Amino acid sequence: MAVPLHFQKPIILDRTIIREGGQRVPPYKFHMRVLVTGGAGYIGSVVTEELIGDGHHVVVYDNLCKGHKRAVNASADFVEADLHDVATLRTTLRDHQIEAVIHMAAYSLVGESCANPAKYYDNNVVAGLKLLDTMIEAQVKRIVFSSTAATYGNAETQPIDESAPTAPSNPYGETKLTFETGDALVR
Ligand SMILES: NC(=O)c1ccc[n+]([C@@H]2O[C@H](COP(=O)([O-])OP(=O)(O)OC[C@H]3O[C@@H](n4cnc5c(N)ncnc54)[C@H](O)[C@@H]3O)[C@@H](O)[C@H]2O)c1
Repeated sequence: MAVPLHFQKPIILDRTIIREGGQRVPPYKFHMRVLVTGGAGYIGSVVTEELIGDGHHVVVYDNLCKGHKRAVNASADFVEADLHDVATLRTTLRDHQIEAVIHMAAYSLVGESCANPAKYYDNNVVAGLKLLDTMIEAQVKRIVFSSTAATYGNAETQPIDESAPTAPSNPYGETKLTFETGDALVR
């Protein structure tokens, strides 16, 4: 799919963007091409809407196992695919010239994670690593990861401070912690 000219990769210099051809764009007009995984879900659909409201180009990547296509803002491009599908992931990053990823796709039901931990490790860790590997390959260097308070378990103090010790009390929290503290996010 052809990428419109105004979405082509900008060069950033002193926060002023100089596009190919020399056109200078003030920083407040800085728009990115963002992939939102899980963008058809409860939170991802709102994140998508906010990004579009701020003028960013959004591509939603969702397999609709839990999300709904009608929740996706009509201005976003939509790719119905699974994170395990590396070929589609690769094509999506490349064809849309993605510059940043907001990673929200996951399973997130505590009870289900206790009944079937492997399902949660496969989606929240293994599929996440596939996303990271594909990003590295495509040289997409920015990611925002949606973690969870479940990584802290039964925290001793409330509200939970970010520096509180992590001690997840269920597989859902474990998978989120594994993804964010394994070598995954520092690669
Ligand atoms: N809802 C909350 O209160 C809450 C709190 C803290 C953190 N989070 C985290 O925020 C994120 C979004 O949560 P939510 O409540 O919107 O969940 P949700 O289930 O509504 O959204 C998740 C979306 O990801 C998609 N998805 C799941 N696995 C996928 C895969 N392998 N490939 C492609 N798409 C896939 C689903 O279809 C769904 O649309 C999750 O990562 C969750 O752990 C949620």
